[in-house]
Amino acid sequence: MTTAASGVQNDTCVAVILAAGKSTRMCSKLPKPVHKLCGLPLTRHVVDACRSAGVSRVIVVVGHEADQVKAALGPDCEYAIQHLQRGSADAVMAALPLLSGHTGTVLVLAGDVPLLQGQTIRTLVDTQNNTSAPAVLLTAHLDDPTGYGRIVRNIDGSVARIVEHKDATETERAITEWNPSIYCFEAASLCKAIHEVKPNNSQGEYYLTDVIGILASAGQRVEAVACGDAREAMGVNNRVELAEAAAILRERTLHMHMLAGVSVIDPANTYVDVHVTIGQDTVLEPGTHLCGTTRIGEDCTIGPNSRIVDSAIGDRCLVLNSYVSRCRIGDDARIGPFANLRPGCELGNQVRIGDYVELKNSRLGDRVSASHLAYVGDADVGADTNIGAGVVVCNYDGRAKHRTTVGAGAFIGSNSTLIAPVEIGDCAVVAAASVITDEVPGGSLAIARSRQTVKPGWAARRAAKEESCASDG
Ligand code: UD1
Ligand code: CA
Repeated sequence: MTTAASGVQNDTCVAVILAAGKSTRMCSKLPKPVHKLCGLPLTRHVVDACRSAGVSRVIVVVGHEADQVKAALGPDCEYAIQHLQRGSADAVMAALPLLSGHTGTVLVLAGDVPLLQGQTIRTLVDTQNNTSAPAVLLTAHLDDPTGYGRIVRNIDGSVARIVEHKDATETERAITEWNPSIYCFEAASLCKAIHEVKPNNSQGEYYLTDVIGILASAGQRVEAVACGDAREAMGVNNRVELAEAAAILRERTLHMHMLAGVSVIDPANTYVDVHVTIGQDTVLEPGTHLCGTTRIGEDCTIGPNSRIVDSAIGDRCLVLNSYVSRCRIGDDARIGPFANLRPGCELGNQVRIGDYVELKNSRLGDRVSASHLAYVGDADVGADTNIGAGVVVCNYDGRAKHRTTVGAGAFIGSNSTLIAPVEIGDCAVVAAASVITDEVPGGSLAIARSRQTVKPGWAARRAAKEESCASDG
């Protein structure tokens, strides 16, 4: 199989992503590959870049907290285990059994390079295909590449070796060309050279970078491809770099949406995860967070200050100062300000959910309105029903949750309490401040509160009584 654009052959190029390291510089209980970056685990970005480059076989080398890393990255990768973290060359060795019989090329990528794009990987693989070099590596330039391995070149310009920052001389540290840890190897050359790597360095580790020097000193030409934007090649080793990478990725994501017709009022204050989709002419106001797998329709206004997680919102909706998590909302809805839509809600079209309304695990038909101060949990509400201010659905009896059903065209008066499980029929009316414990049949009125008593002249009688008490005293 060949991808049309590049000629990358899916089955002749296998990716090996190194993600077994201890990630000590993160100072975290979580392994680094699992830390979230714009909605995805850090290393998942690298897997996705390989996929978009047309690479179908992706092997991830795991070790430190292997089970957590595997669970976070998912079942579409193969996994190799590096039991002891003895360096990046040792990590590649751990993947060799899965590569036995593979005769094409092997892409090796660090698992902490999340901004890398598929197109760059393709260029690397294409260069290997065109030159048949035993190794092609990506390089980048920075005025101060402190911490990164440096590319040492021969007088004729060819790559001689890579020297790690910790092992480099002052002269070598002055080199501004650095190694992002993205390589494309011819499989047989990699397998042969990697066995020659020795842990002769300041960290006592098996460095993958040494493979480059081993190949070059055997007289083989190592090719280098320059990465146009050094930011794309940045490694994430600590939380400062994690935040920097997130800022760059957010900017990239927002540019893509803006160029496709979404208005972003303040890009520096808008947070959109990588898999979110947004329709044309939707406006994102400041303080908006669109997370996970959220899908927003066309002509919506989202925000200011709304957070929408793993939800689908229709066209022409307004979501103002509200929180929506794992919900589906139809077209022309008005949500907020200050609404809290918790998981499991399905709302029809033209629904109106106003201030201080909380919904949970409920289905609301078209044109349902709950405009102020209500809690609706575990309920099915028919179309055109009005839920008054202060209505509370008591879905929990202290032991279990129960469902409430309200028909279409019903009117639930303000401050009513519906004690689940209970059913209210179509077009029924519940008088304000009622406590409903029994079924209300369709079309009927339920009043469930004590009657009002009026005592005419009572205030004057009280005043007279108070006056006579005072004169007695
Ligand atoms: C590495 C490169 C360095 C390069 C930099 C780019 C080496 C020796 N150095 O340094 O030249 O400039 O990346 O970001 O390769 N890993 C394992 N098992 C191990 C050790 C590491 O799987 O035993 C994995 C890590 O999880 C990580 C990747 O390899 O994803 C790179 O390791 P890291 O320790 O971050 O290497 P750097 O010091 O950043
Ligand atoms: Ca690194």
